[in-house]
Amino acid sequence: MSSEAIDRLNLVAMAIGHELRNDMLSISMHAHLLAGRLPDDPSAAALVRSAERARATVEDLVALARETKAFEAVRISSVISSARLELNAIWIDHLVDDPSVRAHGSLLARAIATLYRNAIAMSQGRPTITTRVSTRANRVVIEIEDDGPGVATSVMTTLFEPLVSARPGGTGIGLAMCKWIVALHEGEVALVQGQPHAVFRVDLPLLH
Ligand SMILES: Nc1ncnc2c1ncn2[C@@H]1O[C@H](COP(=O)(O)OP(=O)(O)OP(=O)(O)O)[C@@H](O)[C@H]1O
Ligand SMILES: [Mg+2]
Repeated sequence: MSSEAIDRLNLVAMAIGHELRNDMLSISMHAHLLAGRLPDDPSAAALVRSAERARATVEDLVALARETKAFEAVRISSVISSARLELNAIWIDHLVDDPSVRAHGSLLARAIATLYRNAIAMSQGRPTITTRVSTRANRVVIEIEDDGPGVATSVMTTLFEPLVSARPGGTGIGLAMCKWIVALHEGEVALVQGQPHAVFRVDLPLLH
């Protein structure tokens, strides 16, 4: 993909954030007012949750477009649990300890969530997803392994490029966004194993 095309995509992302921002704030505020008036109505509560999530998405994308460095110390366990909100899988965890990184917590959680979402999208049934966290030479290493069909050879070397997808209904944005967010945190994301199951690795500077 040419750099002009990537610039255009970035501008579209920023324009979406810019144009939706005020409406999302208003939707969120009115959803809260409605839920206040209808405290026992599950639809009103669901509306508040959806409005909050959509508002947070717009705020995060604007932060990403600005390449914000408004980072704070964040525990990896909290990033991982935010990444899993709303996702359904069997989770197996091997966390040697719970290291901290300097991060925009919700953006970093979105980057990890793209890896979890792909694992779930590629699986035939309810996936089992194994997450390993360790520290190596001042880096925090997060490995995510699924039990799906593995990565198609047609996308094995290009899957972090924008608009590369080998999944029906996929847009090919997830991993490109993941790479961008991880790079913003001075980290790297890579596919370390494509077959028989996919294993992705994210490594980030360890915060002492
Ligand atoms: N865990 C995985 N197992 C197998 N293939 C994967 C996995 N993760 C990614 N891929 C492959 O990499 C491609 C690119 O992934 P990416 O997340 O960028 O886009 P997508 O999932 O197709 O669409 P979306 O933009 O909606 O996320 C996928 O279409 C899929 O072929
Ligand atoms: Mg995806």
